[in-house]
Amino acid sequence: MKITVVGAGNVGATCADVLAYREVANQVMLVDIKEGLAEGKALDIWQKAPIDLYDTRTIGSTNDYAKTAQSDVVVITSGLPRKPGMSRDDLIGTNAVIVKSVTENIVKHSPNAIIIVVSNPLDVMTYQAHITSQLPRTRVMGMAGILDTARYRAFLAEALNVSPKDIQAMILGGHGDTMVPLPRYTTVSGIPVTELIAKDKLNAIIERTKVGGGELVKLMGTSAWYAPGSAAAQMVESIVKDQRRILPVCIQLDGEYGINDCYLGVPVILGKNGVERIIELDLNGEEKALLDTSRKHVKEVMDVLDKLGK
Ligand code: LAC
Repeated sequence: MKITVVGAGNVGATCADVLAYREVANQVMLVDIKEGLAEGKALDIWQKAPIDLYDTRTIGSTNDYAKTAQSDVVVITSGLPRKPGMSRDDLIGTNAVIVKSVTENIVKHSPNAIIIVVSNPLDVMTYQAHITSQLPRTRVMGMAGILDTARYRAFLAEALNVSPKDIQAMILGGHGDTMVPLPRYTTVSGIPVTELIAKDKLNAIIERTKVGGGELVKLMGTSAWYAPGSAAAQMVESIVKDQRRILPVCIQLDGEYGINDCYLGVPVILGKNGVERIIELDLNGEEKALLDTSRKHVKEVMDVLDKLGK
């Protein structure tokens, strides 16, 4: 199995590191446009192998996509991160051009790859990669739901003073303030979360989750990388090992949830063919309304991309 991670910035390098130490594949290729950056980070990760005891070979390249040939899975992290005061949508002009060019290079050398997009604005960059690659929608997806759900689960674990391992949750919708955390589908070792936490506390956690990325941008002056990098690696692992994990993933909806032609996070089964199945939850009226608000927001940003000429 060969995995390529494009972008050797904080998120891409973290993703490559997690893929290596978890031995998800025997080779991880790291590519970046900045001279020497991917080679350096790949070498650093490889030099950690004798300490952390893994044998995944990490190799870097400055923009030589021939070296990515025949990749099974490609993670795209390229693009600018957010700075304080920016929304993810503010990145569209710059990142669309980058994601388009990266996707063209990828499919030229790996026409059957499965592509995982991490660049922001996430849902619309998934759209960009999908139309550019012309791959089936089940092979082009975005990473956001695992990250957003992880933030929600971490906040809950803290509030309940229990292990984050025991919190199961699902979040739908776009990767932005309109995301839709679902308390009805949140459990703690099988116990509905509403039996363990007061409603106002749960609502405060949901609101914090929605702006969880922004909280980190304010603290650090740039966007997060540990959780985003690990989240992308978890998707790769489910695909490469055909684990068939049920994870929230951004994909083009084609009638599911009554939505057409929009890229949104929904629960899917992730296996060796990419998205093996989209799981349609039976949402109540309030949940449907929230998902529709998220759909409208993502659609507006998709329209901006259309106007830019894709
Ligand atoms: C975040 C960025 C990666 O949510 O979108 O931290």
